[in-house]
Amino acid sequence: MSPPFELEPLNATFGAVVTGIDLTDLSPDSWRALHTAWLEYALLIFPGQELTDAQQIAFARRFGDIELIGGREIVALSNVRSDGTLIDGSHDSVKILRGNMGWHADSTYMPVQARGAVFSARVVPPDGGGTAWADMRAAYEALPDETRSRVSQLSAHHSLYYSQSKLGHVHSENTDYIGYGFHDQDPPLRPLVKTHPETGRRSLLIGRHAYGIPGLDPEESEKLLEELVEFACRPPRVHEHRWTPGDVVVWDNRCLLHRARPWDMTRPRVMMHTRIAGDPQSEFAPTGQAGS
Ligand code: SIN
Repeated sequence: MSPPFELEPLNATFGAVVTGIDLTDLSPDSWRALHTAWLEYALLIFPGQELTDAQQIAFARRFGDIELIGGREIVALSNVRSDGTLIDGSHDSVKILRGNMGWHADSTYMPVQARGAVFSARVVPPDGGGTAWADMRAAYEALPDETRSRVSQLSAHHSLYYSQSKLGHVHSENTDYIGYGFHDQDPPLRPLVKTHPETGRRSLLIGRHAYGIPGLDPEESEKLLEELVEFACRPPRVHEHRWTPGDVVVWDNRCLLHRARPWDMTRPRVMMHTRIAGDPQSEFAPTGQAGS
């Protein structure tokens, strides 16, 4: 039976644009078909939905519990304050926006990584400021056999301190930034190959928060992780979405990486982010020894 909406696969190994659907009014059939499509395509793009905060949260809740960010169900990722004034580049929140321009998966530095995210555009700059995703299932499958079997034996620590410090951002308690992700537990140790809990497909779990592969020296570890990202995040495994205000996407954080694309930060960009909590059964990782 054809789904009760139109679905156009992207010209990539993943992702689809979905139209003919109102995300605030999903019938049980539409929801079932949408969830099935999400598991298959991992990224669904819904142009022109214009969701309110409450509607975005309600849509995200259909996929699972919400991961609170600084106690909030929805947060603005933005370089402007609510009164429209620009946030200075020296502010920690802008350092995080710059960090988001590196390939990553959400909350891999937390004990339980995120299941996914609903993300929408409110204000977009005239140039740049898109969001790109990369398919780590296809990347894993495309690896040479020898590399695939090597990475299957390895794990890496994940830390926001680590990834931000590479950009010169040292977290301080003396900030009005919410500081989500800068925690005082040891960093989780996650296998480089993750098995998707709902599809059973394997994917690479890498990205900017990953470092310190036990058994490798730090330079060797960094080199391998950089080479994997370089290999994984290229066509046909990548897609960039150029935003129009009102667009909404939902992605599966268990098998995709994503990154923001640069824009002129004197121009406002306001994006609304709702993070879907991972299942502790499949997204929890024990802590490794810090820095090992
Ligand atoms: C993110 O990294 O979650 C946000 C990406 C973006 O701002 O485009």
